[in-house]
Amino acid sequence: MTRISTGVKGLDKMLNGGLIPGRAYLVKGGPGSGKTTLCIHFLMEGVKRGEKVLYITLEEPIDILKEDMREMGFDVDNPLFVGIDATPVKEKRSFFEGMHYEEFAKGFNELIRAIKERLEGEEFTRVVIDPITMIKLTMKDELEYRRTFLGFLKEIAKYNVTLLITSEIYEMGIEDYLVSGVIELRTFEVGGKTVRGIKVVKFRGSDFDETIRPYKITGNGIEVYSEETIM
Ligand SMILES: Nc1ncnc2c1ncn2[C@@H]1O[C@H](COP(=O)(O)OP(=O)(O)OP(=O)(O)O)[C@@H](O)[C@H]1O
Ligand SMILES: [Mg+2]
Repeated sequence: MTRISTGVKGLDKMLNGGLIPGRAYLVKGGPGSGKTTLCIHFLMEGVKRGEKVLYITLEEPIDILKEDMREMGFDVDNPLFVGIDATPVKEKRSFFEGMHYEEFAKGFNELIRAIKERLEGEEFTRVVIDPITMIKLTMKDELEYRRTFLGFLKEIAKYNVTLLITSEIYEMGIEDYLVSGVIELRTFEVGGKTVRGIKVVKFRGSDFDETIRPYKITGNGIEVYSEETIM
């Protein structure tokens, strides 16, 4: 089976070589756990290979995000990296052509339509939606959300892109069941110190390392220590 690198060596090891392309994965974790950083690693890995990648931010303004990511040495100004800001703004501003945030907030369907339009026009290989939480909160009905989310995954699958979605919601959600893989970023207290740990919870179609492995966020991004364990 073909694999694509997440851009984080230790994580690729945990995944038995990397992600299976053309599928959707969930990156879960608390605030500041490194979800966005991990996703940027994944996208920049594509850019390094000359691929066009799409990043959609729903909470952190794109300018601030780029500032932080530049600081970590990521080439977010590369034209192959397309960043779309879908965060709420005071004034009505258009993000996707003819699309306003207020319309996003009205429903997941609008976001799906906008993403599809974008994917039809250009050839992207990797897509990130960061985070999905906001969308989920705009949908009142659980069943409706499930149906829409599943429909979205099916639609996206047609474009042959590898999709990473981040989620702040820590409990098990519907997404966990519907995606092909789940990666969790956690924190632990060990001897009065906070230790970060990464765990592959599920990975359809592949064997994987089920051990929680320590990771660090440094000035160069995320580093996963795939040979170490958390005491
Ligand atoms: N140079 C650095 N050295 C060490 N840690 C850093 C550095 N730069 C940023 N960080 C850490 O990275 C974390 C932010 O990572 P990131 O934005 O990817 O997390 P997140 O899970 O997406 O957060 P949020 O829930 O706010 O979206 C912060 O906890 C910050 O302390
Ligand atoms: Mg984030």
